[in-house]
Amino acid sequence: MPLVTTTEMFKKAYEGGYAIGAFNVNNMEIVQGITEACAETQSPVILQVSKGARAYANHTYLTKLVEAAVIENPDLPIALHLDHGPDFETCKSCIDGGFTSVMIDGSSLPFEENIKLAKRVVEYAHDHGVVVEAELGTLAGIEDEVRVSAEDSSYTRPEEVEEFVARTGCDSLAIAIGTSHGAYKFKPGTKPQLRFDILEEVAKRLPGFPIVLHGASSVPQNYVEMINQFGGAMPGAIGVPEDQLREAARMAVCKINIDSDLRLTMTGTIRKYFNEHPSHFDPREYLKPARANIKEMVKHKLINVLGCNGKI
Ligand code: G3H
Ligand code: 13P
Ligand code: ZN
Repeated sequence: MPLVTTTEMFKKAYEGGYAIGAFNVNNMEIVQGITEACAETQSPVILQVSKGARAYANHTYLTKLVEAAVIENPDLPIALHLDHGPDFETCKSCIDGGFTSVMIDGSSLPFEENIKLAKRVVEYAHDHGVVVEAELGTLAGIEDEVRVSAEDSSYTRPEEVEEFVARTGCDSLAIAIGTSHGAYKFKPGTKPQLRFDILEEVAKRLPGFPIVLHGASSVPQNYVEMINQFGGAMPGAIGVPEDQLREAARMAVCKINIDSDLRLTMTGTIRKYFNEHPSHFDPREYLKPARANIKEMVKHKLINVLGCNGKI
């Protein structure tokens, strides 16, 4: 099948109490590891590309890699999504360039400006058969070149969501309930806790509407330890507990964004490989286990965290 939008995926996910994984892709091995995991587990998937990914790998290379995954996996529903679209022009370029879904991230703008920008993107996207994710509330962490400190982050205000969705016409909404981008999401020694009360209130005000969770990596400690053991330095890297992500997926959350876990898996595996094979210098030798471990990590997410296995 050709690339799909997220409409059908989200409808089924909402009704079925599971979530679709939205994994960031930057190169061939990441695309292959993710889609092989999805094919084996029969899981629909969102492959997402950030502004940084487009700057690194170039739009054409990324879309062609995803196109290759579509050809290799003809039965797999795959959506191609722009992650954190910073402006109308970037969204337009992705819509014109074959994406089936875009995010317009106006979360750092005042409410009225966020609405105005999202509405403009929605109008253009819907005219071209593309769906739109918008965001209300600000996550801490690093989004592309934008750094948001914990002090400047803010939870989504449930009393704003109905007006925002009605006036923008967006198809899904990213909210801030305590997750953050990157590998350092919570202070060591503190108990990570997402604000399920906010999620519940949002769901009550937007019945049946798909909610998105950014910054949802769980930062697997086996890979953090592997990185630290083989020359890296990532002390205190902590993610969102997997049981809380599973709980969010049972609720209104239909899309769970994962990037840092892919990075950790790849980096840990390659660091270990270099340590154990100091004389090797063929990239295929160390990218192969990295790809294999990405596949295993993603399979674990699909089955045990998202619950989207067998849902194609
Ligand atoms: O939310 C941010 C994603 O992890 C993408 O990161 O902008 O460095 O590609 P990036
Ligand atoms: P993580 O840094 O938790 O993987 O979040 C990724 C993300 O939200 C991409 O938009
Ligand atoms: Zn994000």
